[in-house]
Amino acid sequence: MSVPDKRAETSYPINDLLANRWSPRAFADRAIPPDVLGSLFEAARWAPSSRNMQPWRFAIADRHRHPDQFEVILSTLMEGNRAWAQHASLLLIAITEPKPAGSDRPNTYAQYDVGQAIAHLNIQAMACGLYMHQMGGFRRDLARERLAIPPQFEPVVSAAIGYLAPPSALPEDIRARELMPRSRHPLSELVFTAKWGETHPDYA
Ligand SMILES: Cc1cc2nc3c(=O)[nH]c(=O)nc-3n(C[C@H](O)[C@H](O)[C@H](O)COP(=O)(O)O)c2cc1C
Repeated sequence: MSVPDKRAETSYPINDLLANRWSPRAFADRAIPPDVLGSLFEAARWAPSSRNMQPWRFAIADRHRHPDQFEVILSTLMEGNRAWAQHASLLLIAITEPKPAGSDRPNTYAQYDVGQAIAHLNIQAMACGLYMHQMGGFRRDLARERLAIPPQFEPVVSAAIGYLAPPSALPEDIRARELMPRSRHPLSELVFTAKWGETHPDYA
């Protein structure tokens, strides 16, 4: 069984890294070299952010180098995610600072900016031959407790990163999801003119 072809079917051409990105559950038992990992977080670091506040932190654990720490992050995932994410090479939790130290007002773009940093990280991962699967399905309170995240920080999302593997080793129910075609709403439903709900004629 080979890796499935999950390339996006697009109406207009897009960059290969974007077209080929998807969220797999089958990961190879292969360590990520530290310098490759460094590139991923460098990409996140250089993401844009509101007022350049950079409201992101990343708790990471490499399964091959730090199995004990990997177990800590794994233990915060919901069971359904743990079933497959346990085989990833790296787990991360992205954390934000909703109200920066020394500021009297919240950073209303904090979560948005973390999402953007993760998007950059994801595309850099693709450029390095790695795939990422984000997970909202983790216990934030447990993560806060087990990772000793201070109260002024907030866990946003978790993610599994690794090299792609064929889905053959996955349990049947998870394999079925792995092989499902990817779908998106059409551009005609997404891109409006200046009048709300009116499809832009270029995409009708
Ligand atoms: C914020 C966020 C939370 C997600 N949470 C989960 C999750 O808990 N479990 C899971 O299997 N996938 C999760 N996903 C993956 C999405 O289901 C996936 O991105 C979506 O179905 C589109 O598929 P694609 O990434 O392969 O294009 C999450 C993605 C995002 C961005």
